[in-house]
Amino acid sequence: MNAAALFAADSRTVWHPYAPLNGPSPYLVTGADGVRLSLTAPDGAEFEAIDAMSSWWCAIHGYRNPVLDAAARAQLDRFSHVMFGGLTHEPAVALAERLTTMTGLDHVFLADSGSVSVEVALKLAVQATGRKGFIALRGAYHGDTTGAMGVCDPEDGMHSRFPVTSQTFLARPPAFEAGEPEIAAWAAGAELAVAAAAERSAAIIVEPVLQGAGGMWMYAPECLRVLRRLADQHGLLLIFDEIATGFGRTGRMWGADWAGVAPDVMCVGKALTGGYMSLAAVLCGAHVADALGDTPLMHGPTFMGNPLACAVALASLDLVDVARPAAIGSLLEQALAPARGSVRVLGAVGVVQLCEPVDVARVTRVALEHGVWVRPFRDLVYTMPPYVCSDAEIAAIGAAICAAVA
Ligand SMILES: Cc1ncc(COP(=O)(O)O)c(C=O)c1O
Repeated sequence: MNAAALFAADSRTVWHPYAPLNGPSPYLVTGADGVRLSLTAPDGAEFEAIDAMSSWWCAIHGYRNPVLDAAARAQLDRFSHVMFGGLTHEPAVALAERLTTMTGLDHVFLADSGSVSVEVALKLAVQATGRKGFIALRGAYHGDTTGAMGVCDPEDGMHSRFPVTSQTFLARPPAFEAGEPEIAAWAAGAELAVAAAAERSAAIIVEPVLQGAGGMWMYAPECLRVLRRLADQHGLLLIFDEIATGFGRTGRMWGADWAGVAPDVMCVGKALTGGYMSLAAVLCGAHVADALGDTPLMHGPTFMGNPLACAVALASLDLVDVARPAAIGSLLEQALAPARGSVRVLGAVGVVQLCEPVDVARVTRVALEHGVWVRPFRDLVYTMPPYVCSDAEIAAIGAAICAAVA
């Protein structure tokens, strides 16, 4: 099919994320190599663009990475998928061992997407505590499946459209660089709300230090220490959703490392396979698993522990060097400094917040004309670039964003 036929068929047949069937036409990807996407616009214009989004934050080692390609091919030559009920295999076992070593947690449930891993974490907490409520943060985003939606921000999320359980929400924590009085004021509110909800709640769930899709909000690490203390005080589990923040994105291996706090349960996904395929994992401490006793953990997706995904994840983890996203942070600070709007940077996350909603089509097109692919939302234009971007490519991303928001 040529590009015109593809565009026509796409608009006739295909749903895109958070879009009506007859929504704006997407760009056509004709190739992806290194950090660049080859794109064709609906009007026929062609672009070679640095992917400043890492394909929604996961393609950290770039496209057609030779190491990841080789790992996928080697596993294809063995077997690509087998069920995980009653069977096991080396890629899954090796990956689980690697993740426990990396996190200090003890047990791993392999899930097939970030949202599913959140569902499993919530179910695990319900089974471990016998309680069904959850405490989450305003501004949170934990996924689009029903349980995960229930712990997303009740106004910005999709609560009003779907019948999700009503949970308890704490105020959005203060900014990353907030001082002691602001943190203390937030902590006082959190203490009251947690005390009031504790009896009916299984766990507190948060995205450590960076709320992603809920507004690219970087918050004070001290708040995680407050939540750890409150969870311990009230017998609640603490769940860290590191799906966006994990594997170095914030400049530390885990977002939680900014606070030196360990969760009871943790979700990882997105960059786990370097963006090659969908895979996520739920990890927990032995004390959580012990609470289930002989009761099975009630989840079992068809593609659980997919061997191809596990093999690629192992190769991807070998390549993660947290020094690079940390260094990208300094480059992004310089590159975004001239931008109109307020700029915030944490590790390899650079955000420009405007005073008005972004004209997504226009900002995207201007950035493309400057050689960069971005996907803004609300009043935010941001980048989470691949870690393999060169210094010059990070500068180019910054320049394109500055031009697009000008
Ligand atoms: C923090 C967080 N949790 C959960 C999810 C859901 O992951 P997935 O899209 O793989 O279902 C996302 C996705 O953006 C996320 O950022």
